Amino acid sequence: MGDGTGRLAGKVAVVTGGGNGLGRATAVRFAEEGAAVVVADLLDGPAEETVRMIEAAGGRATAVSVDVTSRVDNDLMARTAIDTYDGLHAVVTAAGVASGDYVSGDLELAEKAMKARAASSPARAVVDIDIDDWQTVLDVNLTGTLKSIQACVAAMLDHGCADGASIVTIASIGAKHPDAGAFAYGCSKAGVWYLTKKLARELVGEGIRVNSIGPGFIETNMTALMQFMPEETQEHIRRQIPMGRMGKPVEIANAALFLVSDEASYFTGEILHPDGGFFTE
Ligand SMILES: NC(=O)c1ccc[n+]([C@@H]2O[C@H](COP(=O)([O-])OP(=O)(O)OC[C@H]3O[C@@H](n4cnc5c(N)ncnc54)[C@H](O)[C@@H]3O)[C@@H](O)[C@H]2O)c1
Repeated sequence: MGDGTGRLAGKVAVVTGGGNGLGRATAVRFAEEGAAVVVADLLDGPAEETVRMIEAAGGRATAVSVDVTSRVDNDLMARTAIDTYDGLHAVVTAAGVASGDYVSGDLELAEKAMKARAASSPARAVVDIDIDDWQTVLDVNLTGTLKSIQACVAAMLDHGCADGASIVTIASIGAKHPDAGAFAYGCSKAGVWYLTKKLARELVGEGIRVNSIGPGFIETNMTALMQFMPEETQEHIRRQIPMGRMGKPVEIANAALFLVSDEASYFTGEILHPDGGFFTE
């Protein structure tokens, strides 16, 4: 299929958030390299579209309807990999939200949320944090990541395919830098980064590597909402990227491909930042 060189031939991968953006690019890239991919997403249409893209290029993929906050859904996702493709070797947890009411691709909703945020001062915004919104972001981005990994590791252990497996979480530059994302979002991503290091140590005895990617600003539905930010905020973001451009989803997919491949065999508990130079300051 495509331009791949078979780096993931014989492997089975699960990609959460595989219906859009970074997850879709990763699913497509992994399939190009020979992996069979379970594409898991809350949104069925986009997940099925990713599968069509993979199949049209000659690859193998299955869509599963999954809310990552549900352990039952995550178990179904992991079982689909085992039952359909007889294994599970690579997991990328790309499902995520920017805010509690975020729906990938819904620009109308994004515009409303951005305008509300721009209307209040930073201190007022902290005082007025909606705790339900905060909780949803943590539930999806942080606890959802944990639940997906729990289900996948359980399936790997049961099926006897844990040794040599690789898990990649998607954090953000916002995991380390408070100027790159909304409040709850940054806290959730800092949690994802910590969780990655902790899991790396807990799972190393089973032969499972766990790493993270902390992308900078990448062109997806999530960053499309930046167009509704005040012009000075957009300019501030642009000034923080030495390369002078946003990243492409495939540039994150390539980092994920490296981390799940045997070429990264001595990496665990690490975070890579494909960010156009954001962290040079
Ligand atoms: N785009 C960027 O610049 C950027 C930067 C750093 C980190 N990230 C992270 O990368 C990941 C992917 O984001 P993206 O930019 O591709 O956004 P996106 O909106 O294009 O894709 C996110 C996908 O996650 C799915 N999703 C959301 N909630 C879910 C749930 N509860 N269960 C299952 N699926 C769910 C969405 O339906 C969507 O398909 C997110 O975790 C995001 O925080 C993105």
